[in-house]
Amino acid sequence: MAQAQANIGVIGMAVMGSNLARNLASREGNTVAIYNRSAEKTRAVVSEFPEAGFVASESIEDFAASLTKPRTAIIMVKAGAGTDAVIEQLTEVFEPGDIIVDGGNALFTDTIRREKAVRETGINFVGAGISGGEEGALKGPSIMPGGSAEAWETLGPILKSIAAIAEGEPCVTHVGTDGAGHFVKMIHNGIEYADMQLIAEAYDLIRRGTGKSPAEIADIFTEWNKGELESYLIEITAEVLRQVDAKTGQPLVDVIVDQAGAKGTGAWTVQTALDLGIPVSGIAEAVFARSLSSKPAQRAAASDLPGPSSEWTVDDADAFVEDVRQALYASKIIAYSQGFDEIVAGAEQYDWDIKKGDIAKIWRGGCIIRAQFLNRITEAYDENPGLVALVTAPYFTDAVSQAQDAWRRVVVAAAQAGIPSPAFSSSLSYYDGLRADRLPAALVQGQRDFFGAHTYRRVDAEGTFHTLWSGDRTEIEAVDTH
Ligand code: 6PG
Repeated sequence: MAQAQANIGVIGMAVMGSNLARNLASREGNTVAIYNRSAEKTRAVVSEFPEAGFVASESIEDFAASLTKPRTAIIMVKAGAGTDAVIEQLTEVFEPGDIIVDGGNALFTDTIRREKAVRETGINFVGAGISGGEEGALKGPSIMPGGSAEAWETLGPILKSIAAIAEGEPCVTHVGTDGAGHFVKMIHNGIEYADMQLIAEAYDLIRRGTGKSPAEIADIFTEWNKGELESYLIEITAEVLRQVDAKTGQPLVDVIVDQAGAKGTGAWTVQTALDLGIPVSGIAEAVFARSLSSKPAQRAAASDLPGPSSEWTVDDADAFVEDVRQALYASKIIAYSQGFDEIVAGAEQYDWDIKKGDIAKIWRGGCIIRAQFLNRITEAYDENPGLVALVTAPYFTDAVSQAQDAWRRVVVAAAQAGIPSPAFSSSLSYYDGLRADRLPAALVQGQRDFFGAHTYRRVDAEGTFHTLWSGDRTEIEAVDTH
């Protein structure tokens, strides 16, 4: 039997797992136990990174015995059935009070289920969203743990030691109980999808509108990264656009097949939003844009469909680029506003006490959507914790009102040019819908009452009403719906 000597363990030695284990090992006071289903992989990691001083085990029993109590293990395996299998193994060798952490991209409802089942054994189960890709895992990710307050007491200092630091603060907080951490990570990914799609639309409009090359557009993004749009995604976009393909000498972006993949977290965000009744239209359009791109047969069949009959030209390229920048910023605010709406609705539905300002804070560093403007979100929720929509906070209202004329010009231009801009235009429609005095939803209610007696409410009286629509009988009756 191995002797207990490690204070934290990692299971799963694929790149995210081994990088996280190396990150843990590099922090003062940590000794890290590792385990992988195939022992060969474990041995390879031990010999590749001797400086980490890993305590390696080739059986789950030895792995458990190598951990000091309360035992704490982070599972870093592909989300799904593999996670359940590892949890089952661990619950057999762990004891009440020990902590199992799932650091994969699990669906939060799976995490709720697993937490409930594991809790019955007296072992703590924590679903923790970890963002930042391979580099983040190694150098400092943003971490979104759920689970019990008791588990957080042990886990908090360990996670704080490996998280990214933003403005002196570690990018980790106890998000809420059971599945709260994975829920918030899911929303992070939904926002990530929207942000990426918006940036892609901005690139496409500039390229097709001004004829600038990818390298020239890279310079524009580098410039944008010095202002209010400053973010990791803008930064890497410039690098992607600047990349030249070694084989052909062409911009790499031109030789990459234009069909975007997806592993599912964006779709989960939208599916959950539909269940919660939250309009996350920007995120949904981003998910659908990837789906549309990945339908080659349909795209080929439709490629001869007519576009605009008149030619579209951009007279002033610099002014157009600036309009696109502003449209991007305004649409991005909408995407975050919608994402936070979903967090609020999820917290209410699942009884989580999620501090929105703290979530914005832990997204400032380490994660894929890290951005300068997350500070503004934290400030908005600090000023008004009950803020009903992020976009109505003074800073964001100002930003959107300054950008809106440009935003409208860009959406009009895109429609005239026949350039798809689903995220830009749906974000603008959402904004106009939200600020409208009257919506045609009144007509929809009339239609529903006409064909299905679904009833409606009146602007001038309390209660529920139904109109007798047929023939001459246009009188109205109050309906007791109780
Ligand atoms: C992160 C990323 C990470 C992963 C995405 C990619 O926060 O580090 O979000 O979790 O790269 O899930 O998702 P798609 O493959 O669906 O684009």
